[in-house]
Amino acid sequence: MFFKGLFGTLLLLALLHGASGDLLSEIESALQNATDCASCHLLLIPLQTLAHLGNDAFVDTIVSVCDDFGLEDPDVCQGVIGEEGPILAHDLRQISATGQTATKLCDAVFGLCNPPPVNAFTVPFPKTAPTNPKVFESTGKPPFQVIHISDVHIDRFYTVGSEANCTKPICCRNFADETGPLTEPAGPNGNSHCDSPVTLADSMLEAAQQFGSTANFTLFTGDVVEGAVWLVNKTEVTNDLEAFNAEMASKLKAPIFPAIGNHDSVPVNSFPRNTTTTTIDSQWVFDTQSAGWAQWIGAIAASQEDQTSGSYSVVAPGMDLRIISVNTQYWYKQNFWVYDSDTQQPDPNGLLAFMVQELQAAEDAGQRAFIIGHMPMGKEDALNDQSNYYDQITQRYKNTIAAQFFGHSHKDQFEIAYSDYNDQTASTATSIAFIAPALTPTSGNPAFKIYDIDPDTFEVMDMRVYITNISAPNFQSTPPQWDLYYSARATYGPLVTPPLPASAPLDAAFWHNLTEVFAANDTAFQIFNTFISRGGDVQACDDSCKATTICDMRALRAENNCDNPTPGIMFKRGESEVHLSVSESDACEGKGIAHILKALVNRDGLEHDFARFRQSGRVLRSIYQG
Ligand SMILES: *[C@@H]1O[C@H](CO)[C@@H](O)[C@H](O)[C@H]1NC(C)=O
Ligand SMILES: *[C@@H]1O[C@H](CO)[C@@H](O)[C@H](O)[C@H]1NC(C)=O
Ligand SMILES: *[C@@H]1O[C@H](CO)[C@@H](O)[C@H](O)[C@H]1NC(C)=O
Ligand SMILES: *[C@@H]1O[C@H](CO)[C@@H](O)[C@H](O)[C@H]1NC(C)=O
Ligand SMILES: *[C@@H]1O[C@H](CO)[C@@H](O)[C@H](O)[C@H]1NC(C)=O
Ligand SMILES: *[C@@H]1O[C@H](CO)[C@@H](O)[C@H](O)[C@H]1NC(C)=O
Ligand SMILES: *[C@@H]1O[C@H](CO)[C@@H](O)[C@H](O)[C@H]1NC(C)=O
Ligand SMILES: *[C@@H]1O[C@H](CO)[C@@H](O)[C@H](O)[C@H]1NC(C)=O
Repeated sequence: MFFKGLFGTLLLLALLHGASGDLLSEIESALQNATDCASCHLLLIPLQTLAHLGNDAFVDTIVSVCDDFGLEDPDVCQGVIGEEGPILAHDLRQISATGQTATKLCDAVFGLCNPPPVNAFTVPFPKTAPTNPKVFESTGKPPFQVIHISDVHIDRFYTVGSEANCTKPICCRNFADETGPLTEPAGPNGNSHCDSPVTLADSMLEAAQQFGSTANFTLFTGDVVEGAVWLVNKTEVTNDLEAFNAEMASKLKAPIFPAIGNHDSVPVNSFPRNTTTTTIDSQWVFDTQSAGWAQWIGAIAASQEDQTSGSYSVVAPGMDLRIISVNTQYWYKQNFWVYDSDTQQPDPNGLLAFMVQELQAAEDAGQRAFIIGHMPMGKEDALNDQSNYYDQITQRYKNTIAAQFFGHSHKDQFEIAYSDYNDQTASTATSIAFIAPALTPTSGNPAFKIYDIDPDTFEVMDMRVYITNISAPNFQSTPPQWDLYYSARATYGPLVTPPLPASAPLDAAFWHNLTEVFAANDTAFQIFNTFISRGGDVQACDDSCKATTICDMRALRAENNCDNPTPGIMFKRGESEVHLSVSESDACEGKGIAHILKALVNRDGLEHDFARFRQSGRVLRSIYQG
């Protein structure tokens, strides 16, 4: 074992209060043995014994192991495991260590199992698809504008002049355990190691209003709260949600249609299903947002949101367009409440049924629909079962759904749905999801999008991305400067064959053809790859990375993506420093308990490396910020 001197010894003593020495050594041995799916199931057995000793014993023990291995600063180990540990302990008390739910848990928490095959479930539809669906035809009217912002992650404790080079998931705060000389003082407008200061968020809202002064509405796809997941509590999250609602209201003139993100609750990702009897629930999130959003979505949708686990549907004022905002967190692997039963629950809280109801209403009324949500449904962190059922809905209502809008990945991306995933062509491409980049500077330059929308078809005609460059020499000395970064039509339209005609939309078929261009033309692909992080912190993408990236673009259904669960943290050694390649979900979940537990099961040779990481704030942050 790896102890950090006196400190580690003290923690070992603390830990012995948590679990008996025998159980502890059994857990540590099982952790060491956990290298594949079968041994992960075996690991759950002593963890269940620990969970039956109670939440406190469970938390204390895992905290001690986290500390002993130096996986995080002690306050982070304590905070993250203290908040999320009781949910895992609850799960372990409810399920069989050998069942399918345990397999899913081993995938989500340890990355040691592949997700099990999709459990067949046929989503019920009130009507079959019309044989002669309504044709939405453009009469060539000028498009209207829609602003899309996401993942603002505003840190209201951001402190100008505090340490920006720290060893925690986010920096630029006065942390009590930070002593020693300041190496990099936080500037007023933000830092890539820190979540957004209020000044940065305000400047983005002002720029969105300026560039989108004619916009008819704004989509906000969630994640208001900063990434200090080991510190957040209900008071802080409520304040954060209310403060951002007030800021959006004061700076944006047109209505805002928001969605709830996985960080907009406490603990992070915590949204218990309504079949769970627990003292924790997330109704307070829905109450807060229902009250805050009523000014834009109206009283009826606000009440629906409150009663439908944060989801609502509203017709955009004066338009034949229904906006359906879904709380995707019940389909999210890192919401640990979904592992508390061995009974498969295909439609937690009835949100798939809710989508069907609202899409049927749109179809009956001859409307088109936008689906908005936080997590795009094709990523590795979407549960395969629910993603498959969601895709059935997408296919059934493909004629009604004009486009889908998400955030969560912090990346400028898109995902395509197909009527036949085994035959991916422009003619089987049925739906397109636009993924907005983040405001938070932790994953590239802060950004937002403005779309041009055809007022007859509600198809996207153009997508423009605006950024502020955090590496610009005057970034800290003047108010952040926002500029057009690129237009998708101008950049990509000429690349497809035939070049995209002026009247044609940026629809699923177009984006499919663009993926063909990316496959054939690496120069074009590398432009996309640079755009992903808005030209800041660009990650090199070789042929194998490119193949995965294109595969993922062609997967709005998670079982079709090419991401594999990765046990632990993988190491790639560069010339002068250690780089960690982390799975994309790590960037979104906020470095919660799964991040810590994954590190524990694959720590061969890690002890030395962790000792090195602690010397290097830069490398540590790369783990955290993904
Ligand atoms: C771990 O593996 C070793 C060697 O196979 C075995 O002796 C030990 O019992 C295993 N530990 C647990 C907790 O399963
Ligand atoms: C960040 O802090 C570490 C020590 O905590 C120091 O070694 C390193 O030089 C600092 N980096 C910068 C850019 O100041
Ligand atoms: C968008 O808003 C403008 C200004 O309020 C209005 O004139 C226009 O009709 C709206 N567009 C649509 C498609 O409703
Ligand atoms: C909640 O967090 C805030 C901000 O960190 C802190 O000031 C407050 O004391 C915390 N409240 C509780 C009940 O822990
Ligand atoms: C949970 O939600 C579903 C869908 O709305 C509903 O049918 C079911 O009755 C609810 N269950 C509980 C225990 O409230
Ligand atoms: C941001 O500014 C830096 C420094 O001037 C420059 O090197 C970089 O190309 C700029 N990035 C973008 C995306 O404009
Ligand atoms: C996609 O490419 C095919 C040829 O491969 C072409 O026939 C079709 O018009 C293209 N569709 C769009 C929307 O660009
Ligand atoms: C490949 O893409 C680049 C960048 O968009 C473009 O300039 C070039 O003409 C393309 N090459 C071919 C062969 O189409």
